[in-house]
Amino acid sequence: MTDHKLPGHPHFAYRGNDLFAEDLMVSELASLHGTPLFVYSKAAMLSALAAYQRGFAGRDVQICYAMKANSSLGVLQVFAGAGCGFDIVSGGELERVLAAGGQANKIIFSGVGKTRAEMRQALAAGIGCFNVESEAELDVLSGVAAAMNLRAPVSIRVNPNVDPKTHPYISTGLKGNKFGVAHEDALRIYQHAAALPGLQVAGIDCHIGSQITETTPYLDAMDRVLDLVASIESAGIELEHIDFGGGLGINYNGDTPPEADVLWRQLLAKLDARGYGSKKLMIEPGRSLVGNAGICLTEVLYLKPGEQKNFCIIDAAMNDLPRPAMYQAFHAIVPAVAGGPAPATTYDVVGPVCESGDWIGRDRPLAVNAGDVLAVLSAGAYCMSMASNYNTRGRAAEVLVDGSQAHLIRRREDAQDQMRHEQLVAE
Ligand code: LLP
Repeated sequence: MTDHKLPGHPHFAYRGNDLFAEDLMVSELASLHGTPLFVYSKAAMLSALAAYQRGFAGRDVQICYAMKANSSLGVLQVFAGAGCGFDIVSGGELERVLAAGGQANKIIFSGVGKTRAEMRQALAAGIGCFNVESEAELDVLSGVAAAMNLRAPVSIRVNPNVDPKTHPYISTGLKGNKFGVAHEDALRIYQHAAALPGLQVAGIDCHIGSQITETTPYLDAMDRVLDLVASIESAGIELEHIDFGGGLGINYNGDTPPEADVLWRQLLAKLDARGYGSKKLMIEPGRSLVGNAGICLTEVLYLKPGEQKNFCIIDAAMNDLPRPAMYQAFHAIVPAVAGGPAPATTYDVVGPVCESGDWIGRDRPLAVNAGDVLAVLSAGAYCMSMASNYNTRGRAAEVLVDGSQAHLIRRREDAQDQMRHEQLVAE
């Protein structure tokens, strides 16, 4: 039987009418574990990682998975096992990495608002580097580290002022963003950092945005960062590494981002041409490692025909899949078992949450009946990690597929789980 691969999802394919995740039929996973259910392919994660590794063959590069994309322990374990470091943005993420077997010295700590407690926690754990985002944060970090008789390794996140040509909410390298320090202030701020007693300048960092599908913004950002490396080093401050952030996009809806290895061959050629080919590199990819390694299975509860719109009401909602409500994002939706009633009908696919913003797909032609299982694609990144309990809906279960084995990596949350930290006022 021939496999019909899903675009962008090499490890999810139809065999006959049945959608498979690696060697497992997803409709069986849905009946076994219930819906909504996130299903991840381990092979898909590792092959996304391998694309980066191919691009970096023979180079000194640390890949730090940006775990905000998907911070489930079973997912972190895959990347820790493959030798990855992690990009974290909170003390909670640090605890998760350590619980999943990640190495502290391969952790970089990003984010504009680290608290003193988080700084102490990360210093005590011995993380690899703090990516500092403001002058005020440098002063606080130096004080916290000095009080522990330590020097905190730091990179300063510089804002290259390059337009990544992506959604405004996920573009971070432009002047009006809250992230990083301005290009023109960077040298002065590095000089300030080098003079602080609790800091050890280690590198330079930049991240220009997310879901980037073009190569040019990356090449431009690299040029701007290398200009700064030259001026900082000629002021006598040595930079051991360049952290080039994450941001590479995936195919949600016919998007054509460059392959990681193709992109990095171009970026490395630029580094070589400018004489920085032997500098240690770090990168922080999130979405491109997990986005198309996951789908969300959901059951059709009701079909509701209407004068203007037909609605397909499913049991997953904006609390499980927040991206459409937040960014008008597109996720493809396909049946777990193809060959439903012909011809297809055009539906708005919506969840049970009491908000008009609770839609998962608009104007989708679907051949479905109530009770059918649908798969929402490209759901590996920024879905479960942004899931909420709105409407007291428990967060979904998650399964990691490895060949013909399915591992439950998160059981479904129930109402008792949600009420655990609450109490009634004593009367
Ligand atoms: N490094 C830093 C400093 C970041 O802020 C981010 C993402 C990454 C790395 C990873 O970027 P990626 O490779 O995943 O593009 N919730 C949004 C995306 C927010 C991205 C935030 N920062 C979405 O669902 O599209």
